[in-house]
Parts: sequence; structure tokens; C-alpha cells
Amino acid sequence: MTTAADATPSCAHEWDGAEYDRLADPQARWGSRVLGRLELAGDETVLDAGCGSGRVTEELVDRLPQGRVVALDASSSMLEEARRRLAPSQGRVDFVQADLLDLAPATLGDRHPVDAVFSTATFHWVTDHDRLFANLASVLGPGGRLVAQCGAEGNIAGLLAAVRSVGVERAGSWLYASADETASRLEHEGFVDVAVWTNPEPTWFDDADRLADFLSTVILREHLLTLAPQERRPFVERVVAAMPEPVVDYVRLNIVARARA
Ligand SMILES: C[S@@+](CC[C@H](N)C(=O)[O-])C[C@H]1O[C@@H](n2cnc3c(N)ncnc32)[C@H](O)[C@@H]1O
Repeated sequence: MTTAADATPSCAHEWDGAEYDRLADPQARWGSRVLGRLELAGDETVLDAGCGSGRVTEELVDRLPQGRVVALDASSSMLEEARRRLAPSQGRVDFVQADLLDLAPATLGDRHPVDAVFSTATFHWVTDHDRLFANLASVLGPGGRLVAQCGAEGNIAGLLAAVRSVGVERAGSWLYASADETASRLEHEGFVDVAVWTNPEPTWFDDADRLADFLSTVILREHLLTLAPQERRPFVERVVAAMPEPVVDYVRLNIVARARA
């Protein structure tokens, strides 16, 4: 099944899937660890909400030899990479292009309801968490699990100070929520057995070019779209020069919860 949401995702949802796939070692490392929190018998149907280029999805598929994965993302470039990467698992993965803010049972067709929702490095890009969690609850079967990680309150504060020091107040749209407000939102949407916690994840880059590529492709992506192409690399290099050390001060928000049985 390959479906596209009725509304074509806006350019704010576009990513460079091939570059992300090349650079997203930190996200792949964290994603592996988060996946370890999802207990699976191997025959479940799991929604990967914001699958990106499919590096972590690939591990999820390996954990489901008799199961299925719905790999959902808003970005066509990311989905193209994910399709390439997951081609050997054809038949066990359904690709869906959709905005998580529009997710509903009909988005998943005959894959609804899912046994679990898994998501890494995505929820902070979705700036309405009340609606996001309500949508996720609507596609989970009774007792279905939610295991996720995204950016938390305080995420990349040092990096954003470097961005401000070169004259840009807000380099993109994201929501870095706290553990407490996230737990309240999940409970409000009917989730139970809710556990939410944060952990620092400072991430070092030995190579300045790779750091600049990473910032361009991931963190500063939205701001760069507002600049002329020839202004983009110099801007990113000014940010790198303003960072006290080549480290991105990530803080992650971890979520484990269950839909009401
Ligand atoms: C940093 S990538 C993470 C990809 C993958 N989960 C990983 O850990 O490598 C964030 C992904 O979230 C997707 N995304 C952001 N906002 C979204 C939305 N509202 N609906 C669906 N996907 C979204 C982006 O297109 C992108 O592929």
C-alpha cells in the first residue's frame, strides 16, 4: 500500500533524504536504543511515525519477521530514501506520505489499528502535541504501546545561543516540551502507564565540514530555506565558528505509554 495524504505536504516538510541518510549517525544511534524499549513478539503491526530515510525503521523491520511496519513521513525525499533502503523487506513495509497532524484511522487503511507507535527524532518538529497525541491515540488498538523520543525542553540551547550571536533569533519551528507537560498531555488524550523523562545527549563532531553539513541538513534546514543559496554555507560556517566547541548539546525527551485497554 502506498498512499499520499490529500493535502500535499508544504515545503517546510521537505528534507534532503539522501543527505540525512548519510549524516544521521546520532539519530540512528539513539533510535536503536529507543527501539530496545519496545517489546515485540515479532508478529505485530507497528507505525514508525516520522520514519525519515529508514535507518531505524530497518532495525524495526528486522524485529518483526512475521509482522508489518507502516513507515509514515511527510517528506517525499525521505520516503524515497526509505523505500530504497527497505526494498529487501518489500511486502512487510507500507509507505505512507502524510502529516502526523492529519493522521487518522483512514490514513492507515487496512493497517488500522496498529499494535504500537514508534517514533524517534520527530515529535519536536510537530508543534501541536495535543493534536499529535490525540491522532496517535486514534490509530492505536486497545492497550497499544507508544515508544518515542524527541527533543526536550532545553534541547540545543547552547547551539541556539551561537545562532543568536550571528543575528538569527529563531532558526526554525519546533516544540521542545518538558517531561511534565508531555505526561499531562498524554494522560489527557487517554494514555495510561505513562513514563516521560529526559536525558542529555551531547554530540561531538570531529570534522568541521561534517558538523556544517549536519547543521545544514537537520537543525538549520528551515532557516537556510529563507536564504539565497549562496548565503547558506557562509551562514552555517559563522554558526560553527561561534560555537565554543564542536558539540551539539542535545537533550532528549523519552516517552513510554499505553493506549487504554
Ligand atoms: C530528524 S528526522 C527523523 C527520522 C527518523 N525517525 C530517524 O530517527 O532518523 C524527522 C522526520 O520527521 C518528519 N516529520 C516532521 N514533521 C512531520 C509531520 N508533521 N508529519 C510527518 N512527518 C514529519 C520529517 O519529514 C523527517 O523525516
